[in-house]
Amino acid sequence: MFEWIILFYILRNHYFWAVFYYRCFAPEKRGRPKFYEDCIMKDTLINRREFLKNIGMLGAGVLLSASPWLSAFSEVKETSHEKCRIAVIGPGSRGRFLMSFLVQNPKVDIVALCDIYQPSIDKALKLAPNAKVYNDYHRVLEDKTIDAVVVATPLNSHCQIVLDAFDAGKHVFCEKTIGFTMEECYLIYQKHIQTGKVFFTGQQRLFDPRYIKAMEMIHAGTFGEINAIHTFWNRNGDWRREVPSPELERLINWRLYREYSKGLMTELACHQLQIGSWALQKLPEKVMGHGAITYWKDGREVYDNVSCIYVFDDGVKMTFDSVISNKFYGLEEQIMGNLGTVEPEKGKYYFESVPPAPGFLQMINDWENKVFDSLPFAGTSWAPETANENKGEFILGERPKSDGTSLLLEAFAESVITCKQPERIAEEGYYASMLCLLGDQALQEEKVLYFPDEYKIDYLNHKAIKTEAV
Ligand SMILES: NC(=O)c1ccc[n+]([C@@H]2O[C@H](COP(=O)([O-])OP(=O)(O)OC[C@H]3O[C@@H](n4cnc5c(N)ncnc54)[C@H](O)[C@@H]3O)[C@@H](O)[C@H]2O)c1
Repeated sequence: MFEWIILFYILRNHYFWAVFYYRCFAPEKRGRPKFYEDCIMKDTLINRREFLKNIGMLGAGVLLSASPWLSAFSEVKETSHEKCRIAVIGPGSRGRFLMSFLVQNPKVDIVALCDIYQPSIDKALKLAPNAKVYNDYHRVLEDKTIDAVVVATPLNSHCQIVLDAFDAGKHVFCEKTIGFTMEECYLIYQKHIQTGKVFFTGQQRLFDPRYIKAMEMIHAGTFGEINAIHTFWNRNGDWRREVPSPELERLINWRLYREYSKGLMTELACHQLQIGSWALQKLPEKVMGHGAITYWKDGREVYDNVSCIYVFDDGVKMTFDSVISNKFYGLEEQIMGNLGTVEPEKGKYYFESVPPAPGFLQMINDWENKVFDSLPFAGTSWAPETANENKGEFILGERPKSDGTSLLLEAFAESVITCKQPERIAEEGYYASMLCLLGDQALQEEKVLYFPDEYKIDYLNHKAIKTEAV
């Protein structure tokens, strides 16, 4: 008996060292491309200076091919003594968050603020005390010295402000979702093309180093063929803001009412659905789903519980799920290939196959983990499909510090100064907005909806059928 115990401990230690060896010294034998190990070691895009050095000043073909909008930084040195004059329309919660980055940029002057709610103006003035104050955006647009506007008003008001801003010759940054309807999004995009003015949308993931790096890996085939993208965004809260006086309910809690918002689809899905076109380089062709108010029955009009399935032409799917009555799983975009999975929000990736240890070590491991006990008939050929316990590895060398918003705004300022629209950024924003609105329509109509031909533009697998000026 004693010999058996000794033998058991020897084998157990061998198992430990075998796993240790596989983890540390033989990554390529586990199916992980060696080149990527090198990339990660050398190229950790953490801070802004490093980021700009990597993508702008030194040039980085691979990054630019996966994320072409990074070209916005290509003249960052030449513009070092230039400035742009920006007005913020709707400096509410998001608007002021954007301002907190803009005021740190020496190339930006926030010269005007426009809001219809005085408390928002008062708070914004603390960030930009020298800005002129307006409560009608038309007056802002009359100021010829203003180069660009940042629009961060409630969703239902974006379209008219953006169209008027383009007509007044301004460059535009518009928060997502860009339009309240698909038609509005289309009008905005066409106006951007007609006027040739710079157009950015509030899709900060496009500038998030975790996502940029993850997409580079995906495009290089590191995770094999991507067959599913599983996105979810869960919270536990009523999504309400405190209202100082009842008549302000709709102005302040606009995102709960269908007159102003389409709820979780336009507020949250818009960010995550954009991952599909970036990762797969194509757009889905149809969507189906379900939405309901199941928990927050407090007079709101937008769903608090939604699920959508977007399907691409080859059957690949992208799902979006959201509830605001349970936050256990938080938010993530799980991009699933046959060789591995990426979770860019967590900043991690996981390879599928870690080759099993030699048979007898596997047996001891099974025994230690009581696999035999739970499988009286089927033996080791069948195992319960519980989630993989692989802890994965960070996409970047350490935990990321930025969600991309500051770089997105820096890129916007660069583009305003150079008057050059970076490739594909407007199109990514356009389709992110279109997909969440199409999803919302599918939920409302309880139908499978195909992407309408009349709103297709020339981008990825879509071809415009309508080219006349709007
Ligand atoms: N990119 C992101 O991660 C992100 C995050 C949050 C919000 N957003 C977007 O930002 C936008 C604003 O959201 P928020 O949470 O800041 O809302 P908010 O209600 O806090 O702010 C909106 C502001 O616009 C003002 N406003 C309303 N109508 C106006 C008008 N006609 N002219 C000028 N000002 C007007 C309001 O008084 C308020 O101060 C929305 O489109 C939202 O989806 C984006």
